[in-house]
Amino acid sequence: MAKLRDALLPAPLRKVAKPGSAGVPKEQAPADLKSSPPKRQTELEQIAEKAKEAPIDTVAWLDQRLGASGFLNGMLFRKVPKGTNWFYTLGSATLFAFIVQAVTGVFLAMFYTPSATQAYASISHINNDVPLGQFVHGMHKWGASVMVILIFVHMGRVFFFGAYKYPRELNWVIGVVLLILTMTMAFTGYLLPFDQRSYWASIVGININGTGPIVGPYLSDFLRAGPELGATTLARFYAIHMLLLPAAIIALIGAHLYLVVKLGTTAPPWTKVGKPRVAEPTVNLDAKPRRVDIVFRARPRESIDAIITTRPFCSSRS
Ligand code: HEM
Repeated sequence: MAKLRDALLPAPLRKVAKPGSAGVPKEQAPADLKSSPPKRQTELEQIAEKAKEAPIDTVAWLDQRLGASGFLNGMLFRKVPKGTNWFYTLGSATLFAFIVQAVTGVFLAMFYTPSATQAYASISHINNDVPLGQFVHGMHKWGASVMVILIFVHMGRVFFFGAYKYPRELNWVIGVVLLILTMTMAFTGYLLPFDQRSYWASIVGININGTGPIVGPYLSDFLRAGPELGATTLARFYAIHMLLLPAAIIALIGAHLYLVVKLGTTAPPWTKVGKPRVAEPTVNLDAKPRRVDIVFRARPRESIDAIITTRPFCSSRS
């Protein structure tokens, strides 16, 4: 497959295809250019040719400044292990659910008023008067449950495939933080309609937080933002729900996916041990140790075949 970077080269720098390949006819060049000169292009043909090149020239211009084609090559053409199946789509499904929540949330924020006296009325207005309002609100409300279910199922897949083991422990930890943030997102969002159900459910939720050891009482005070659940609580939940948590989740998903690409995905546990059947990580784990490695390494490094999960349930590494 042609490298993305080669395809993005501007026309004058591109390699000329050999006769017989890439659509170039396999005929001999004329011996005498004087008697049979190559056909001259009309002005219109020249403009048409330039217009055809314009999109690729634009992308190439950007690529020369961003250097993104190297990253895209690595991302789109990376190797995946044999036996990869539908269970591996659960992470992407969670990501998709998050994107749906982000997009529908932006539209809801255009009409929602985070005030104790107007929140309920603004939600009624979204549901009853705004075109497609009820649909978008419904997507956001049901999407929250979908995301929570998907994140748990994805986590289950990672656990049962042993994909949390070395060298992916950090990605598991990032995942756990993502899980907590997603649950907090669902909790803070529940109060926003400010109806009877969300009011009393949030009181229950805040009180449950208050029962936690040591930090519990501080946490519930922080969430309530005052002696009683009221206007200040709503403002706090709204800020957490639509500013703090989305920013943190986006940053962590970025780190999570960076590690997925860097380390490759785990082969399913039933894959036999043999030749490495895994995506080769872009980092060379077999490379000669550098000084920092020697300082930080707790145990000797194994060969890449052994490390990258050909044996997810292998007890020696757990
Ligand atoms: C917003 C939430 C999350 C998103 C968007 C997300 C996304 C993804 C994606 C796209 C992948 C690669 C494809 C796949 O294996 O499904 C992946 C892999 C992974 N995820 Fe998540 N994830 C999330 C939450 C979690 C959670 C809660 C955990 C565990 C506590 C977790 C742990 C992992 C691990 C360890 C891998 C590597 C799996 C492997 O190498 O086979 N993720 N994640």
